[in-house]
Amino acid sequence: MSTSSLDQKQYFNYIGGEWVSAADGRASENLDPANGQLLGYFPRSAQVDVDRAVAAARAAWRDWRLTPAPKRGEILYRVGMLLTERKEEIARALTSEMGKVLVEARGDVQEGIDMAFYMAGEGRRLMGAIVPSELPNKAAYGVREPIGVVACITPWNFPVAIPSWKSMAALIAGNTVVFKPATDTPLSAVKLVEVFADAGLPPGVLNLVAGTGPEVGMPLVSHPDVAAISFTGSNQVGRDVNVEAARQLKRVTLELGGKNAIIVMDDADLDLALDGIIWSAFGTTGQRCTACSRLIVQKGVRAQLEERLLERMASLRLGHGLEATTDVGPVINAGQRDRIHSYMAVATGEGAHILAGGEAARDGDLAHGTFYKPTLLGGVQPQMRVAREEIFGPVLSVIEIESLEEAIAVNNDTPYGLSSSIFTSNVNTAEVAKRDLASGIVYVNAGTIGAEIQLPFGGVRGTGNGHREAGLGALEFFTEWKAIYVDYSGRLQRAQID
Ligand code: UN1
Repeated sequence: MSTSSLDQKQYFNYIGGEWVSAADGRASENLDPANGQLLGYFPRSAQVDVDRAVAAARAAWRDWRLTPAPKRGEILYRVGMLLTERKEEIARALTSEMGKVLVEARGDVQEGIDMAFYMAGEGRRLMGAIVPSELPNKAAYGVREPIGVVACITPWNFPVAIPSWKSMAALIAGNTVVFKPATDTPLSAVKLVEVFADAGLPPGVLNLVAGTGPEVGMPLVSHPDVAAISFTGSNQVGRDVNVEAARQLKRVTLELGGKNAIIVMDDADLDLALDGIIWSAFGTTGQRCTACSRLIVQKGVRAQLEERLLERMASLRLGHGLEATTDVGPVINAGQRDRIHSYMAVATGEGAHILAGGEAARDGDLAHGTFYKPTLLGGVQPQMRVAREEIFGPVLSVIEIESLEEAIAVNNDTPYGLSSSIFTSNVNTAEVAKRDLASGIVYVNAGTIGAEIQLPFGGVRGTGNGHREAGLGALEFFTEWKAIYVDYSGRLQRAQID
């Protein structure tokens, strides 16, 4: 943290259409996790900045809610076009501050583009419902209305995609937004908000306030003029958000992680399964809510799959995400690296074996960043902590099972239920799995990652609180229903009575 190095690039909050410092001038460093280089200084905002942003959003709502949804959609369409133009520049910035390899950073921005065009189209739908009245000469229908000012509190692992899911759905529905990006990824947030500003979004409709959870996030949650909160992050913080919001009866959507599994049956195409496992477990350095952290494998292929997995893992190259040779980037920061590592003692203490990795990577240039070796844990039992708790890093636990029933029971027996997958060539097995895997997302013959924005995203059990993001579910969350009755009979008609 520093306010003195003014030679370094300064970035700003975006409040009421102006780029401004935190009111008290505080700023925080933003570092590249792959090499520790300083990327710039970002506002370390406080309550007063939150108050200003909420006031701006509240003032802007008066016109925005009355702006025809197709017109709101046209702005989102321009956002999609500008994001497409700037995709490479934004992806590079994203890789620099977050660490994921460039090809995945491009995917992160692409998910924002997809959402922009999808929600732009919703501006011409935003469907309500027309139903018959039980009385003659009376119309009955329901319309969706915006809620007001909403807070979008977002994580560092998808610094463009997730803010896009939340803000674009909120905006098309006619809400105004205060966006608090993760403390580790304010640069991607600035780039995204610049796009909205350049696309012609009116001042105050989307506001950016950078800073920490306690100093910006919680004040937003408890602010009386914030009507709804969309939060993605850790289970612990999500509970706190929910409790605080409940005191004021605010609507909250929570997406709080996963303990996702790939099931590999004896009859699976093992080459395909292997590709899916590597991509899902070590892509994004295992830092996706949807990442595969458990491999539930049938006894007949367990040894062979483990051996081939170890071979493939040995060829994964760690490095800066901007280098074309890199397969696996750094983890987000030293705190996360140490947290991931703390699970190694937990694993061995409970009787699991470290088959590969199990330590930070510090060779050569890697020493300047926060790298962790892709790790495989063998001999894991379903009740062990490493099989139940979200580690959020490149750590995969192998659990051997005998039957489909056992695989499904093991899959479902964790505190989370976001994404699950099964590799099998048996259609009956696949059908049973689709029916009985208890998670918000199920894949057949594909890994656990790569959800598309036109379907609902979210999960069961501790993954959330029953809402879904993206897809049509997003509009459910970001709108209130209003039921309208128009009686054109010219006389008093009494529902339920006449
Ligand atoms: C997340 O990790 O929180 O399905 C989001 C996926 C991505 C989104 C992940 N489209 O893997």
